[in-house]
Amino acid sequence: MAKEVNTIGVLTSGGDAPGMNAAIRAVVRQSIYNGKKVKGIRRGYAGLLEEEIFEMQSYDVSDTIQRGGTILQTARCKEFKKPEIVKEAAKICGKHGIDGLVVIGGDGSFRGATALAEAGVNTIGVPGTIDLDIACTEYTIGFDTAVNTAIDAIDKIRDTSTSHERCSIVEVMGRGAGYIALWCGIANGAEDVLLPEYYDYDEQKLVDHIIEGRKKGKQHHIIINAEGIGHSTSLAKRIEAATGIETRATILGYMQRGGSPTAKDRVYASTMGAKAVDLLCEGKTNRVVGYRHGEFVDFDIIEALNMEKKIDSFLIDTCTSLNGR
Ligand code: ADP
Ligand code: F6P
Repeated sequence: MAKEVNTIGVLTSGGDAPGMNAAIRAVVRQSIYNGKKVKGIRRGYAGLLEEEIFEMQSYDVSDTIQRGGTILQTARCKEFKKPEIVKEAAKICGKHGIDGLVVIGGDGSFRGATALAEAGVNTIGVPGTIDLDIACTEYTIGFDTAVNTAIDAIDKIRDTSTSHERCSIVEVMGRGAGYIALWCGIANGAEDVLLPEYYDYDEQKLVDHIIEGRKKGKQHHIIINAEGIGHSTSLAKRIEAATGIETRATILGYMQRGGSPTAKDRVYASTMGAKAVDLLCEGKTNRVVGYRHGEFVDFDIIEALNMEKKIDSFLIDTCTSLNGR
């Protein structure tokens, strides 16, 4: 029998992402719309263990949909990997009357969510990460904004690169995933893209490509380097030495995690937050919301965590064929 949920908790966990506020707002308002109480939990699982829990009203999320970051703040909490700590957290939920929980975060946060579901708290995950590295979904909250931020910055770097006839290495976020890099590669018309999933560390190939481009009259050469490969500054020095072409490195860093969310991030994050509440109201637990083939869907969390995320090889081929080789 489906367990009726009366009080829904919401937290954000792991790296923040633009659009998380839209998702929080949706959880709060959809819960109230369904006659439920809603409680915000600050600082992810760490705040849950510290009982940083407070009741939220509709007006608490006013004026937040357009804001980057997360009004609930976020944290990483290593201890949450311990089963006894998760049990403690489930007890804290019970103490505060929280019988349903929405966890907005990435794969790591979903591991915590499934552990909490196992410990008796009805829990639903909502994918929030700029990295787009969650296998069960084609959309994650924040990716669209982060990519647009990076694209804008790279366009600017390209202007000055062309003026000075330089080569530029731009490092974008993505410790384990090259989605931001690949999208920028296509959207910025970069000459080369280095993805953690595919890079063969053949620097001579890069050098040859730069020299070849220069011979053809190219006035700049943009290399997008994913954070997972890193070392952009030393790579720039080596390229400059090998090509004789002035080469600069720019690490975009945390600017990609902030800023006002795009329309897509606002709308999709709102939809996913509302769907998470609907699932809880239907008595569902241990599910994660996703977006696939044009539809908002949900999966068992364990099943979702076992799926493998593959970078689209057609996108990689397209990026290569359009880069003017
Ligand atoms: P993300 O959610 O963005 O992938 P992390 O991997 O840092 O970010 O995970 C966020 C938090 O989720 C961790 O700090 C921890 O509290 C919790 N978490 C991660 N892995 C597990 C796990 N195996 N079991 C329980 N909780 C986990
Ligand atoms: O949010 C995802 C991400 O930006 C990764 O690309 C990056 O590796 C990681 O977070 C860094 O986060 P932090 O420095 O906050 O641990």
